[in-house]
Amino acid sequence: MIDKPVEPHPGGVGPFRNPIEQAREAPVERVFGSNPPIDPTADPAVHLSLVVPTFNESANIGQLLHSLHEVLTATDTTFELIVVDDDSPDQTWAAAAAVAADLPNTRVLRRIGESGLATAVICGWAHARGTVLGVIDGDGQHPPEVAADLLSAMDSLTDVVVASRHVPGGGVSNWSTFRRLLSRGAQALGLLLLPGTVGRVTDPMSGFFLVRRDVVATAELDPVGYKILLEVLARGEVRRVAERPYVFLRREEGESKVSAGHYVGYLRHLMRLRLHPLRSKALMRYLLVTVVALVVDTAVFLWIFDRQGWNLTRSAAIAGESGILLTVVLHDLWTFAGRAARSALDRIRRLIGVQIALGSLLVARLLVINVLVNWLHLRPLAAFCIALAAITSTSHLLGSRLTWRGVRH
Ligand code: GDD
Ligand code: MN
Repeated sequence: MIDKPVEPHPGGVGPFRNPIEQAREAPVERVFGSNPPIDPTADPAVHLSLVVPTFNESANIGQLLHSLHEVLTATDTTFELIVVDDDSPDQTWAAAAAVAADLPNTRVLRRIGESGLATAVICGWAHARGTVLGVIDGDGQHPPEVAADLLSAMDSLTDVVVASRHVPGGGVSNWSTFRRLLSRGAQALGLLLLPGTVGRVTDPMSGFFLVRRDVVATAELDPVGYKILLEVLARGEVRRVAERPYVFLRREEGESKVSAGHYVGYLRHLMRLRLHPLRSKALMRYLLVTVVALVVDTAVFLWIFDRQGWNLTRSAAIAGESGILLTVVLHDLWTFAGRAARSALDRIRRLIGVQIALGSLLVARLLVINVLVNWLHLRPLAAFCIALAAITSTSHLLGSRLTWRGVRH
């Protein structure tokens, strides 16, 4: 049943050419070459496009497609299911097509000459029509009914909904202690290297999630290996994330494709995201804003205290406050432009958050300055500089970091 591609269509879809198979099965769209870009505009006729990546899942795919179909039909959503098979030796694509023939809105892409879970998922999204894009494993380990929970959590303010094993109600059914440890270890490593990304969800390794089309259409996704969610969270403009519990089921048929090589791939992936130029650009801006705020803080202090002759504490307080306000405004409008706030309310909330965090450290700075001047008899300017270096610089670096931790950088 496997026939050779007639001619490659880079990034395109070729027709299924065997007329005998075509008569018995739904058409299989053959995909060649790298993925076309994800179209930013959805087809209003389809709300959800759920991609099912497969490799040697012929024993599982039929049951899964039937269950998914049943679950999603019950939600009253318009949807399509897209199986992306990497030309499996067990002909999963043919098994899927045989089932799809009886199920409306089910498509089968047979990717020729490519492999890899993450790129297969992106391939499915690139050929999808829905406003919301999603992924679920093809082996039945992700319970299909959870797809409906994810869908109901995808409201207009939410960009990503993740099925998580690590929220109440979630879990793993039969993992060995070793695999649990590996999974948790991988997560801890991710937290260390990419706290702003990995720390946003309880289950960053999840391969079961939904994402709004515009998030991935505007991002340059280039994942290696398995962890497509990490890529979406790191490179997409993801503002709000929701999670729903799920229990990772036992695999009934076939075997996991995870190997030692995937862990190395994961490490490479983390390092690549860490070094991503966009991220360092935001980091440079972040550091620059801190420096500017400290310079302005000092300039205001010198002007009020030295020139206007105001008292020490009041001058240091006003100077510190101007540095804080400048930090908030610049981070919001420049460092994290476009992704920092969804609404004016969001901005106000952040302003109050930074104000509380940095404001209390400003009080500490005033105390230190007074102690240095009144008890240790340092000169006011020296005391100001010491407090600025010790307290204000760290508070600007760490305080803002915490306040904006929901925003990647
Ligand atoms: N198209 C394609 N190409 N599909 C693939 C490939 C590939 O190269 N490799 C794996 N798949 C498909 C499998 O057929 C299956 O449907 C799904 O991707 C997951 O692969 P498994 O090998 O079963 O992975 P797992 O069960 O060990 O881990 C899964 O679940 C974890 C928990 O959510 C993955 O989804 C992990 O990413 C996830 O962390
Ligand atoms: Mn699996």
